[in-house]
Amino acid sequence: MKATAKAPANIAFIKYWGKKDEVLRLPENGSLSMNLSHLWSKTTVEFSAKYKEDEIFINAEKEAGEESRVVKHLGRVRELAKLTYRAKVVSQNNFPLGTGLASSASGFSALTLAAAASAGLKLSEKELSILARQGSGSACRSIPDGFVEWLDGETSDSSYSLSLYPPNYWQISDVVALVSQTRKKISSTQGQRQAKTSPFKAARISAITEKIKTLKKALKMRNFPLFGQIVESEALELHAICLTSQPPLIYWEPPTLAIIKAVQQWREKGLESYFTIDAGPAVHLICQTQDEQAIVKKLKKIKGMSKIVVNRPAVGARIIDKHLF
Ligand code: DP6
Repeated sequence: MKATAKAPANIAFIKYWGKKDEVLRLPENGSLSMNLSHLWSKTTVEFSAKYKEDEIFINAEKEAGEESRVVKHLGRVRELAKLTYRAKVVSQNNFPLGTGLASSASGFSALTLAAAASAGLKLSEKELSILARQGSGSACRSIPDGFVEWLDGETSDSSYSLSLYPPNYWQISDVVALVSQTRKKISSTQGQRQAKTSPFKAARISAITEKIKTLKKALKMRNFPLFGQIVESEALELHAICLTSQPPLIYWEPPTLAIIKAVQQWREKGLESYFTIDAGPAVHLICQTQDEQAIVKKLKKIKGMSKIVVNRPAVGARIIDKHLF
C-alpha cells in the first residue's frame, strides 16, 4: 500500500487567479501552462491500519492539524476508495516553499498520484486531474505532459487539464530567477479572494477567452514573438489585478522590476526572452532554448539574484519506484 510519485511545478502562460467555486476550486477562467523539468516534488504515501492519525512530513518538517489541506486531500482519496485507514505522507521539494514557485502545484499533483495508487484506485488522467484540482487548482495542470490546458468547466467533472503538446514539441526554456527565498505573507488562495475587489477584474474576464484562443494559435504556429508578447501582457495583467485589490497585493521586490527592465533592453539588442511572474517575486524568463545560457549569464549580473533554475518543458506526474521512507 506504499506508493511514490514525482510531479513537476508548472508555469502558467495564462493565469488562474480567481475561483467561481471556492470549495471545488473551479476557476473563473481556463488557463495554459508548461511543466517544468527542474522544479519538482516527490511524495510517498502509505495508507495503513498501523497509523492512528494522518502523519505528514514536508521537507522533513512535521505538519500539524486535522484541518490541513493535505489531510483534507487524503480524505477525498479515502472517500473515493471507500477506505478508513490513516496515512503517512512524506514529501520533498527541490526548491523553497511559498516563494511563488508553484509549490502547491507540484506538491498536490504528486500527493494525488501517490495517494490514489496507495489506496488502490485506478484513475484516468482526467480523473487524477480533477482530484488534484481540489487540493490546489494549479496542481491539475501538473498531471498531464508538456504544454497543458486547464478547461475551466461549470462542474467538477468538466474542470480538468489535458496535454496540448508533449514536452519535445517546442524547444523553449523557462529560466527562473529567484530573488527572495523568504516565505510570502499572502497565500495565492487568499490573494485570489482579494482579486474580486479589483475594479479591473471584470475587464480581464471579458477578454480572456479571446486571449486564450490567440495564445493557443501562437503555440500551434510556434510563433515565439507572438507567444511571448501575450505571456508578458498576461503577467502584467495579473499583477495589475493584485495591485488594485483591497488590500493591495504587491508581490514584486526591487530585483523583480530590475529584471523586467533588463529583459526589455536585452530584447532591443536582439536577445529575445519574455517574462512572466506568478504570486511572488520570482521572475520566469521564457526564451528559445538556444538563448538559455546567454540569459543565465546576463541574469547573474543583476543585483539581488539568489538562485537561477533552468527548466525545459517536462512530462507530468509519474509513479516512481524509490520510496522516501
Ligand atoms: C499565480 O493553484 O496556488 O500561480 O487553488 O488556491 O491553491 P489554490 O491556488 P494556486 O494558484 C496559482 C496562482 C498562480 C497562477 C497560475 O498558476 O495559474
